Amino acid sequence: MDIIKAREYFPHLKKGITYLNHAATGPFSKPVLDVMDEYFRARSEDNIDDYPAFVKTIEETKELLTVYFNCDPQRLAFADNTTNGLNMLAQGFDWKEKDEIILNDIEFPANVYPFLNLERKGVKIVFVKSRNGIVTAEDIIEKITSKTKLISVSMVQFLSGYRIDLEKLGKVCRERNIFLCVDAIQGLGALSLDTKKCNIDFVSCGTQKWMLGLQGLSFIYISEELQQKLTPAFVGWLGVNDAWNLLDYNLSLKDSAERFQPGSLNSAGIYALNASLKLFKEFGLKEIEEKVISNSQFLIDNLKEINLNPLLFEIEKKFLSGIVSFKHADANSILEGLKEKNIMIAVREGIVRISPHFYNTGDDFEKLIDSLKILI
Ligand SMILES: Cc1ncc(COP(=O)(O)O)c(C=O)c1O
Repeated sequence: MDIIKAREYFPHLKKGITYLNHAATGPFSKPVLDVMDEYFRARSEDNIDDYPAFVKTIEETKELLTVYFNCDPQRLAFADNTTNGLNMLAQGFDWKEKDEIILNDIEFPANVYPFLNLERKGVKIVFVKSRNGIVTAEDIIEKITSKTKLISVSMVQFLSGYRIDLEKLGKVCRERNIFLCVDAIQGLGALSLDTKKCNIDFVSCGTQKWMLGLQGLSFIYISEELQQKLTPAFVGWLGVNDAWNLLDYNLSLKDSAERFQPGSLNSAGIYALNASLKLFKEFGLKEIEEKVISNSQFLIDNLKEINLNPLLFEIEKKFLSGIVSFKHADANSILEGLKEKNIMIAVREGIVRISPHFYNTGDDFEKLIDSLKILI
């Protein structure tokens, strides 16, 4: 990977900012800035209503996304955030009283409330207890009963960075006729996901973190099998066949996942995502994943050397992601101390979370470790 070229694409680096906080919000790259500038100028100055160009970009963006999922573009739809993607699933399924959904006690709340909201329909939410800050596929599998209808997990756990074994989980889900839903926001953009190999039925992912896109845009993947079991809670004019036959009012939903896109989409978000996906393609998805994992491995080893104990330590590579974190009694002063040195990280639930992307290098980590040595 041409890392010098990659770094050229990120303007904040020229300002001396060491940004290691992609698990919170990703920075806009130069290609994203350029495409948005072009789009906003056109919307303001000349080509104001170029809907065909937008439709083309939507299609191209879905095509670019299929590589992440190993799926057909027809299985993808855009939404406004991860939460509402999950709400589409939660509100669309024909739940029966005493059906069970398995979650866990360290999920980001985006992947909890849409399902907790089903308790009023008599659905039972089972929370698997984490151990040492993580939840494994085995922990979840143990909680499956004959009533389990759905398991919803994060691809990467937002506090520890643990990348759950989706292949193992998906295999059991398939054998037991359980739908598997994945909140992929902490993975995609940095890591790949094969919905077929992992038997995943539903994915929801916002674009503001590792995808380096905008808040207010997300996408879902839905398997054909699961789609057949869902009745969209919200329907609208862009989700029906022959949408531009405006006064026909024929509620015949599209066969594709676009039936879940009821109205106009977030155009700026889609232009930005399109530019990000092309940037990722330029550097190679496999190469990006390898770089993200080797960054994390490097960080884990170096944190350990200064006696900070990463939550993920001595763990197989396949469980690593872009997030490395450690517990510290003075987490907030570490955050502030690093900020003073223009090093951006995050603290969540008293845990110091470091989340570099593929363009971060050893120099960034050296700066971080040197500063941490002074602060701890
Ligand atoms: C695992 C996870 N899911 C979802 C979100 C965000 O959800 P939404 O896109 O609905 O704001 C976050 C962080 O903000 C997260 O860490």
